[in-house]
Amino acid sequence: MKILAFESSCDETAAAVMEDGRTMLSSVIASSADMHAIYGGVVPEIASRKHVEAISGLADEALRQAGVDKSEIDAVAVTYAPGLIGALLVGVSFAKSVAYGLGVPLIPVHHVRGHIAANYIAHTDLEPPFLCLCVSGGTTALVDVKDYTHFEVLGGTRDDASGECFDKIARVLGLGYPGGGPMDKMAQGGNDKAYAFPRAHVADHPLDMSFSGLKTAVLNTVHNAQQKGEELDLHDLAASFAAAVSDTLVPRTMEANRMLGYNKIAVAGGVAANSRIRADLQRECDKVGAKLWLPPLSLCGDNAAMIGCQGYYEYLAGNTAGWDLNAKASLDISKG
Ligand code: KG4
Repeated sequence: MKILAFESSCDETAAAVMEDGRTMLSSVIASSADMHAIYGGVVPEIASRKHVEAISGLADEALRQAGVDKSEIDAVAVTYAPGLIGALLVGVSFAKSVAYGLGVPLIPVHHVRGHIAANYIAHTDLEPPFLCLCVSGGTTALVDVKDYTHFEVLGGTRDDASGECFDKIARVLGLGYPGGGPMDKMAQGGNDKAYAFPRAHVADHPLDMSFSGLKTAVLNTVHNAQQKGEELDLHDLAASFAAAVSDTLVPRTMEANRMLGYNKIAVAGGVAANSRIRADLQRECDKVGAKLWLPPLSLCGDNAAMIGCQGYYEYLAGNTAGWDLNAKASLDISKG
């Protein structure tokens, strides 16, 4: 079964052709990140306009690279939630018109379900149930992946997403947008104990997290140094920050694993590219004999291949949409 998939929930416009869920025939991405960089974060209206400009050409390019004619497409999958509403609507409207024109089913896909499915593309041996740490610009959650289309959120951030913290701190340090990658590079070789940043706990909710206090602590450190004219060691600062994020995510992931007992852990989303988090998780999994699946860096960020992959499993579960499909800015993964 060949699925043409679209993703447009934030600042990446993407199209892909997937075969039988896990085989990637093509995956093309256009990003408007450069345009947002001057503002230090995504400007929704700019993102929407760039999606409109890019999506048609990307659809053609995905088909061309896959060597597939549009008449061979069996279904169209699209991210319909959660995300920037204007951005999502571009993908949903375009996918609807393509599916209608080709006379094939339309499959709505939850964005974070797609991020989890990126692991299926890279790891053919991975099957539910497993625990997934979902960490991106908009999400930080521990998800029980009960099967391909049944999910339960076990815990997550009460305030900022982990990726958002990387981005906000990088902005203040002048490292550009998105800031996670540059922050990761800056942390290499830094002393992760140089700055004592807080690790927050949510009383009586051992799997929940909070990143806003950490973000404020780092920003205060930067502003204080600027006001006093003191030089900060950016390598140490980035390493200390990454350690605090990892110390928040990793013990909770291992606790959730202990509670579920699957001993199978996957990571999903843009922050899954972070070298410190990857290394800490691998070390802790090795200690308890848990198997860890990490997506390749190319599939950590937003892409349409993951949407086509999850779309396949949604289709098998009978989850298709009518022509009245609407986009949703927020939606719990268990309801997607
Ligand atoms: O999954 P994604 O592309 O978009 C969302 O669905 O949100 O994630 C983007 C986020 C951004 O916040 C970006 O700074 C972060 O992932 N990111 C990283 C790294 N690479 C990207 N965060 C930490 N370390 C990285 N190496």
